[in-house]
Amino acid sequence: MIQTPVCDLLQIRHPVVLGGMAGATSVPLVAAVSNAGGLGTLGIARTPAEQIPKDINAIRETTTRPFGVNFLHFMARETAIDAALSARPPVFSAAWPRADQDLRSLFGRAHEVGSKVMFMVGTVPEALRAKAAGADVIVAQGTEGGGHVGWMASMALLPMIVDAVDQTPVLAAGGIADGRGLAAALALGAQGVLLGTRFLATTESPLHPNFKQAVLDSDGHDTVLTEIPDIARANVWPGAIARNRRNAFIERWAGREWELRARQPEVAAALERARETGDADNASLLIGQDAGLIRDIPAAGEIVERIVAEAEALLQDRLPRLVRKG
Ligand SMILES: Cc1cc2nc3c(=O)[nH]c(=O)nc-3n(C[C@H](O)[C@H](O)[C@H](O)COP(=O)(O)O)c2cc1C
Repeated sequence: MIQTPVCDLLQIRHPVVLGGMAGATSVPLVAAVSNAGGLGTLGIARTPAEQIPKDINAIRETTTRPFGVNFLHFMARETAIDAALSARPPVFSAAWPRADQDLRSLFGRAHEVGSKVMFMVGTVPEALRAKAAGADVIVAQGTEGGGHVGWMASMALLPMIVDAVDQTPVLAAGGIADGRGLAAALALGAQGVLLGTRFLATTESPLHPNFKQAVLDSDGHDTVLTEIPDIARANVWPGAIARNRRNAFIERWAGREWELRARQPEVAAALERARETGDADNASLLIGQDAGLIRDIPAAGEIVERIVAEAEALLQDRLPRLVRKG
């Protein structure tokens, strides 16, 4: 077992968290991760408010373990936040606020209903802002990760954030897909890890089978930081850039963003069709560099167990043998 203080805080067995990926998480995936002793998190940034309590009830019907829900702060609707908090999720997580948004009052509301607050950041100043607002757990997200990320790589960012926030527990995210990543994150001062891309390629993942296969096909070198998916959806993120597979969709528009803006509604409709039909060349495929470490599509619970077992073996056997007296 790998036990860190965040396991006690969140009442989880293993310090492994499923990133709350809107549109790429589902009740079965969340329950599978929580039932395996990690923390499953449902991405509800785009879920209609009336559906949120239903989803939270459905999670409670499939697991008795703690779980989380995740908002994208800059686009969170009040009705959706109210709906989520009224269902008292054990963990309320969020990321990507605008500079003018008040974190303290939101975190206070979550605390009032008994939720722990987890906040994901990509810079030291954002981590300090989240700590000052009362976050219980800070996720340091490196640029290697899939989806919307910042510019700093985990190797430098994580220990900087650990130092900056002092006693507040930090989880590492971005580029982690196996037990080596967990062991490295612990060495850098994290108390656990949060994974996105690795959980996309699982049996419970709601992604189209072609997209799961695309994660396996990626060698990790074929992702790119781009604003193309957000321009196509006419969605401006505060300070984030998207890490997407460099597929035909990205190649088509790279360097022609001006034209993409002009044809946005048409391209958004084509993107949606590609998502529905599993057209991996023409969809937005948000995946991290760690796709190069992913070679199978197991059950999500098996991922949690494997990661912990591999990290344990590293910490107990391989790494201690490297240290010699004298
Ligand atoms: C498809 C996809 C969707 C994501 N959506 C969200 C989201 O809605 N909210 C959020 O906080 N993070 C989101 N993320 C980021 C993850 O929470 C996490 O930080 C990231 O996946 C970690 O890097 P990794 O993919 O290398 O594991 C998303 C990531 C992916 C791959």
